[in-house]
Amino acid sequence: MSSADSPAPRHANPAELRARAASLDDADALAAYTAHFVPGDDLAAYLDGNSLGRPVASVPAALDDFVRTEWSGRLIRGWDELWLTRPAELGDRIGAACLGAASGQTIVADSTSVLIFKLLRAAIAAQHAADPDRDELVMLSDEFPTDRFILERLADDHGLTVRWVDAPLDAGITPELAAASVGPRTIAALFSGVAYRSSWWADMPAVTAVVQAAGALVIWDCSHAVGSVPLELDAWGVDYAVGCSYKYLNGGPGAPAWAYVAARHHETLRNPIPGWLGAAAPFSMTEGYSPAPGVASLVSGTPPILNMVALEQMVRQIEKAGIAAIREKSIALTSYAIELVDVLIPAAVVSTPRDPARRGSHLTIDHPNSALAVERLWAQGVIPDFRHPSGVRIGLSPLSTSFVEVERGIRALAEALA
Ligand SMILES: Cc1ncc(COP(=O)(O)O)c(C=O)c1O
Repeated sequence: MSSADSPAPRHANPAELRARAASLDDADALAAYTAHFVPGDDLAAYLDGNSLGRPVASVPAALDDFVRTEWSGRLIRGWDELWLTRPAELGDRIGAACLGAASGQTIVADSTSVLIFKLLRAAIAAQHAADPDRDELVMLSDEFPTDRFILERLADDHGLTVRWVDAPLDAGITPELAAASVGPRTIAALFSGVAYRSSWWADMPAVTAVVQAAGALVIWDCSHAVGSVPLELDAWGVDYAVGCSYKYLNGGPGAPAWAYVAARHHETLRNPIPGWLGAAAPFSMTEGYSPAPGVASLVSGTPPILNMVALEQMVRQIEKAGIAAIREKSIALTSYAIELVDVLIPAAVVSTPRDPARRGSHLTIDHPNSALAVERLWAQGVIPDFRHPSGVRIGLSPLSTSFVEVERGIRALAEALA
């Protein structure tokens, strides 16, 4: 039975639910973290941490210090002394805190879109070298647009076929759907760890195993998973993964993404945009390209060091709080939000798994008045987002969101939808 069809369980009434918000905050082991973010001037409830995370309170001072000490203080010497190794150092910290990745496999660079292109193109090259007859790429038909656009373009450019997979609106990729879609012709399958609309958290180890059993490579887009659910990319045997850092990693607008390449693929990793800063000796100005060892070769041009300053502040918060505690709070927040929706907005369809084990840290509810309601709410400082065709997406970033804020936001949403 899909979550959209599930009968709503019996719930407390609105007054009881409202009273419960404060006691949930009192019992929240991570409650103190909500004060570690810059307060928004007009903010009544921020329900969009899964699109753009809030700035950590230490970011302004960290940026100021960077400008004075590192940029102005060291100027061009900063590259040799500090910055060239920063994409790999920060990648390792994200790998350890959020990805279950041993060091040397994660790099911070580019946007998610560019890294998706690089990984997909690298997967095609690696697979064609081993088995030139493979000619299919696999993806969900309602995957995030950038993933679809890039996969289609690469398929077109290389004479490949895209095998589109349909999943229900309130779900995502399953081992069964994957098994029915991959085979001896599959080069690679690209799926979202947590789906951007439904919030479906895939059974990533099982799907990975199914794809690999067909001799194909798996690429996980973890944009909505990183920092919200515990990932174990090494233990699950994942081939490649990618994700953005401005959602639950709070790196700020335009913060660089990260890519993970399992160590066993480093020998054959071929960056389709071989730039000087991913070369073995960037300043030797040699004629031919010789890649840096390992995942560092995925870097092409100059990395956005300034944006990494803000990102590093949030990675530090996650390291302190621990991803297990973050996940525990995420489940409590989304469970409470679903209860509120069931009671306050009975006409809405919850298009997100009701089973917390299959859910990330956001939910989408469908309602015919969604677009207008979201526009109105934004003007009131209550900020969810709208997703086509009738969805309101409610993102609950565990470290920055309180239960009182969730109650306030969903109550305002109920009024706006009505
Ligand atoms: C699932 C998913 N993949 C990819 C992207 C695109 O990321 P970028 O803008 O960094 O290329 C997004 C952006 O929100 C996303 O949600």
